[in-house]
Amino acid sequence: MCGIVGYIGNQEAVPILLKGLKKLEYRGYDSAGIAVQGKMGLVVRKAKGLIKNLEEKISAESKNADEFCGFAGIGHTRWATHGEPSDVNSHPQTDASGKIAVVHNGIIENHGKLKEWLLSKGVTFQSETDTEAVANLIGFYYRGDLLQAVMEAVGRLEGSWGLGIICADEPDRIIAVRKESPLVVGIGKGENLIASDVPALLEYTREVYYLEDREIAVLFKDHVDFYSDEGQVIQKEKTHIEWDAASAEKGGYEHFMLKEIHEQPKALTDTLRPRLTAADTGGARKINLDEIGFDASWAQASRVVITACGTAWHAGVIGKYAFEHFARIPVDVDVASEFRYRDPILNPKDIFIIISQSGETADTLAAMRMAKKGGARIIAITNVVGSTLAREADLVMYTWAGPEIAVASTKAFTTQLMCLNLIALQFGVLRGVIKSAQLNEYINALEAIPAQAEKILKGKENIQRFASQQFNKGKVFFMGRLFDYAASLESALKLKEISYTHSEAFAAGELKHGPIALVDTSTLVVALCTQSKLFDKMESSITQVKARGAAVAVITYEDSDRFNNIADEVFRIPRTDDSLSPILSVIPAQLFAYYCAVQRGLDPDKPRNLAKSVTVE
Ligand code: F6R
Repeated sequence: MCGIVGYIGNQEAVPILLKGLKKLEYRGYDSAGIAVQGKMGLVVRKAKGLIKNLEEKISAESKNADEFCGFAGIGHTRWATHGEPSDVNSHPQTDASGKIAVVHNGIIENHGKLKEWLLSKGVTFQSETDTEAVANLIGFYYRGDLLQAVMEAVGRLEGSWGLGIICADEPDRIIAVRKESPLVVGIGKGENLIASDVPALLEYTREVYYLEDREIAVLFKDHVDFYSDEGQVIQKEKTHIEWDAASAEKGGYEHFMLKEIHEQPKALTDTLRPRLTAADTGGARKINLDEIGFDASWAQASRVVITACGTAWHAGVIGKYAFEHFARIPVDVDVASEFRYRDPILNPKDIFIIISQSGETADTLAAMRMAKKGGARIIAITNVVGSTLAREADLVMYTWAGPEIAVASTKAFTTQLMCLNLIALQFGVLRGVIKSAQLNEYINALEAIPAQAEKILKGKENIQRFASQQFNKGKVFFMGRLFDYAASLESALKLKEISYTHSEAFAAGELKHGPIALVDTSTLVVALCTQSKLFDKMESSITQVKARGAAVAVITYEDSDRFNNIADEVFRIPRTDDSLSPILSVIPAQLFAYYCAVQRGLDPDKPRNLAKSVTVE
């Protein structure tokens, strides 16, 4: 996630690009930049921080009116992936000659290899970004024909990209190309635009072309040509945008939370794929965590301690089950605010995994610093490049979820689970617990998850209907065993924080030790049932709450009819390994929470009393 905008036409480009970037600021806001083709050639201005910083820089650095103006340009607002937020890592990135400028959304998975190859050809680099490799590759292939150079360069890329490209020697055009990262071409009168998202275009046009994977658009001020990746001219169908500006920002969804729930398949793919060896290279599949500097020494830890707050702590609880199961290593999991004030026993052989979407949560950072002081090594799992957590940890594994705007965490949570599973499996491999054939099966299961998540999302109407019947329940309990218990914790938190329904989670085995006293006809119990070896036990718990008059919804596998006769409602998820199921089983719970909040007339994006990032105690 980042924002791209490009303009070519009869108007001054810079104000249009700045306005467009502001409309896209929700997609990334750690730095921004613009490249413009003007009287002074190709000029680039970039600044760390919000777009207003870029505006200030532009006015401070452009001493005369001609210096930073022109009728064609590209702009970018960044959510950092490779390289911390800084002026030099901001986009546009230029090639070594400074003649070609590129803005990029997505992740170039083979950028390391491309950079190495370009360095061996004498090409120089300045930033830590994967995007600079793209700019330099295009520069390397440029022999007076930008389209040709782009085709050659893109042919060598692996990963995902939405690219806007301009070249000082061909100032009459902008080139756009994408794979797995959206790009829209807007058609105006005597002007054309590109953007990663519709809101940036709406002021100028409602006539757009959606670029498909690997298609290329060449924009001139009075027309646009479209090409296949092999350079054949293609005809495309125009779309008229009906959305108003507010819903366009949310991609047509009513709320950011719903949009972010729907972004999970993509976020999961982005988080998983760069960490696996390619399927087509032959040989056994492997998890590759070289990128984060994870080597065999990490797996020699005597204990893993996972520390976090809120939703991230719930991911940690699931992580504990995963580490014990995959790697047979002792794991403690701790709420950061407890850990920091307890008298914990620390050992330099401990490894701490600190999880935080924002990377700025005060309690989580305090816990990390305490662990460090005790001599432990730290792996951070965070969504924000350059965050305090990322800077202070020994290793960082990023969740490539893109900015999460809604206060309630959804895609950050499931991508945290993806990271934890990858690290736990790698621990298992290095500790000799998981053999190659088994790893292959887990990798296949992980790779299936994004499409399985998509399938759950397609069935959301069922959950919406159920929420419309249940949203006024006095209390909702979530229960499960093992991984399902851990997923229940997160499910209950989602419901309480955005719908203000009293909801609790408990391990189903605890039912008889207390919670059953609260169960009556006003109760809804959601039973998570994906731990196949404990289906009998879950059936018995469900029977007990039904006998006290509770309504029961079950979340289970689509190929199991085990609970059909005892549940009032069954939500089905595709079959996966029981130890990976929380990534899927939490999605119906997220949707249920969302629809309950909407039914209650609440704004799920901004729940009362809560903030996105808790930087104070
Ligand atoms: C709940 C939620 C919070 C956060 C918690 C930690 O939906 O978002 O519980 O998970 O405040 O925040 P991070 O992950 O930024 O440390």
